[in-house]
Amino acid sequence: MKKKIGLFAVAGLIALVSTPSMAQFAKAEDAAKYRGAAMALIGSHFGRMAPVAKKEAPYDKQKIQENIAVLNVLADLPWTAYGPGKEGGESRPEVWSDSEGFKQAQDKFKTGMTKLTAASDTGDFDAFRVAFGEVGKSCKSCHDSYRKKK
Ligand code: HEC
Repeated sequence: MKKKIGLFAVAGLIALVSTPSMAQFAKAEDAAKYRGAAMALIGSHFGRMAPVAKKEAPYDKQKIQENIAVLNVLADLPWTAYGPGKEGGESRPEVWSDSEGFKQAQDKFKTGMTKLTAASDTGDFDAFRVAFGEVGKSCKSCHDSYRKKK
C-alpha cells in the first residue's frame, strides 16, 4: 500500500512540474523570447532550402524531406507563445488587436506547409520549387502585417 501511494505521489509531481510548461509562460518576456527563438529556427530550416529552390545547390529529395519534417515540428511552436497579456518582442500590437487576421496568416502558412510536404514527397523539383515559393510568400505577408519593422 505504501508503495502505491509513493507511485501516485510521483505521478502527481510529474503532472505538477510538466503542466505549466506545456502552454504557459510566467512573464510576457519569456513568451516573446520563446516565439522569437522558434521563429529563428524556422528561418534557419526554411532558409537553407533557398539555394536549392534557386538551383544554386543540387536537389536531394531525401535531405529536403528530412528538413521539411523538422520544419513541420517547428511550424507549430511560435503560436503557443501568444495569448492575452503576452505582447512584446518583435510582434506588433496588431497580433492582439487583429487576432482573426493573425490566425488567418497562420492558417495560410500551415496550408502552404502541407502542400510543400506533399510536393517534397513526390520528389518533383518543380513542384517543390513552386510550393517553397508559396510558403515564402506566407512568411512575408505575415511579417508585413504583424512583425515589427527593423
Ligand atoms: C502568422 C505570422 C507569421 C508567419 C506565417 C511567419 N512568421 Fe516569422 N515572425 C512573425 C512574428 C510576429 C515575428 C516576431 C516574433 C516576436 O519576437 O514576438 C516573427 C519573427 C521571425 C524571425 C526573427 C526571429 C528572431 O530572431 O527574433 C524570423 C527569422 C522569421 N520570423 C522567419 C520566418 C520564416 C522563414 C517564416 C516562413 C517559413 C515565418 N517566419 C513565418 C510572424 C510570422
